Amino acid sequence: MGQLKLSTDAWSSQTVFILAAVGSAVGLGNLWKFPYITGENGGGAFVLVYLACVLLIGIPVLMSEIALGRAGKANPVQAMSNLARENGASRLWALLGLNGVLAGALILSFYTVIAGWAVSYFVQSISGAFVDITASEAGTHFEGLMASPYELLFWHTVVSLATIYIVSKGVKQGLEKAISLMLPALLLILLVLLGYATTTGAFGQSFNFLFAADFSKLTWESVLIAMGHAFFTLSIGLGTMMVYGSYLSKKGSIVKASLWIAFADTAIALIAGLVIFSIVFANGLEAGSGPGLLFETLPVAFGQMAGGWFFGTLFFALVVMAALSSAISLIEPVVSWFDQNWGIKREKAVWILGGIIWTLGVGTVLSFNAWQDVHFLGERTFFGSVDYLTSYIMLPLGGLLMAVFMAWVMKKDQVQAQIDLKAPWINWLLLDLKWLAPVAVLVVFSSSLVESDSVIWMIALSLSVYAIYVWNALKKEGGEKI
Ligand code: PHE
Repeated sequence: MGQLKLSTDAWSSQTVFILAAVGSAVGLGNLWKFPYITGENGGGAFVLVYLACVLLIGIPVLMSEIALGRAGKANPVQAMSNLARENGASRLWALLGLNGVLAGALILSFYTVIAGWAVSYFVQSISGAFVDITASEAGTHFEGLMASPYELLFWHTVVSLATIYIVSKGVKQGLEKAISLMLPALLLILLVLLGYATTTGAFGQSFNFLFAADFSKLTWESVLIAMGHAFFTLSIGLGTMMVYGSYLSKKGSIVKASLWIAFADTAIALIAGLVIFSIVFANGLEAGSGPGLLFETLPVAFGQMAGGWFFGTLFFALVVMAALSSAISLIEPVVSWFDQNWGIKREKAVWILGGIIWTLGVGTVLSFNAWQDVHFLGERTFFGSVDYLTSYIMLPLGGLLMAVFMAWVMKKDQVQAQIDLKAPWINWLLLDLKWLAPVAVLVVFSSSLVESDSVIWMIALSLSVYAIYVWNALKKEGGEKI
């Protein structure tokens, strides 16, 4: 541990930090995942639960995670270990960092595959493939892509290489600039699409679908999905925000940054939802058609609107960039861990890890064709299983433990040194982190597990044993020198 290198990098300014964090948060989660899981889970009530989760669990955990990063000044594993030592707690808290580092790698393995779809659509759009396309042609086009493992593998490789290249160069150079250009452009195109959506004749129906809550459609499983998505979309629970926070200077306001991140992220998801469901309803498409939703709807819009070729091409380019700025943030925790704790330099670490993650991604590629009927966790495909394990188990669990650490383990003056909130807000925040967030996560966990099958039960059981073990160890070993 003697030669341990802490994070020495620093963002150029608070604004740059916010941009990078927004770049991480805004990605496929907003544009691809949110609309399709909302469609699969019945709309309004699901959206309401998701918004409540962002507000009551997401924002407090986001603040905590950035604060833990800035106070711990290292990659997630080391940051937790540093903080545990400073606060007289067990070094086993480092496992929380490990959970995140692993989850990031697992998520990235399917993230590059889906981002690959967007690259393929970008190329298709340039070639004019979507001009005047009908809804059923768009569906066939997407099915064609899914049925071709080599094509999927090719695009997966392209995105993996791009991610590896950017991260090997260091996050700051290039990325800061790309994000500050890309985000406003993405928002602008979404607004153009929103304008188009109002002309489809189904905008009102889309609005109702998203905002009129019908709780009879809600199951505990869908509440878990909404909660898991709040973690996924805000990039919390796995240490991305911790690493980014470790590069933030003491002067930056964590509260202001968190509110901006959550606002931008939520607004972009809701606009994407409004646009996509307008197209779905106007063309008699299926809202619950699954992961293809974005790709089966938007070409229709671009095919019909004036200047659609231009907007379509630009849009898919921006989806790719939004995905890349999230992809690099998914691999950053594990890369910085390799660099700081294992002495494997960033340039080398990212190639080794990138290779492992790429290989895992092959499983996701096959989930849409050759392995379509091969099931892993319960009835889920390989992709479904990795998504479930990370978004709905590892991230909420990580977020829960971060909240617990912040509120129960960290000294109050250390918390106050990080979180620039005055009374009574700081007390509300701590109350939320102490009780509401952990209890909510546990209740949703256990209720949805009761609804599902035995494999999930086994995972739940092992996770509970793990949680109890960690908890006991923390109590017993509290104060031990690390
Ligand atoms: N928030 C990103 C998205 O919505 C995904 C992500 C999750 C990135 C976790 C980093 C960490 O696409």
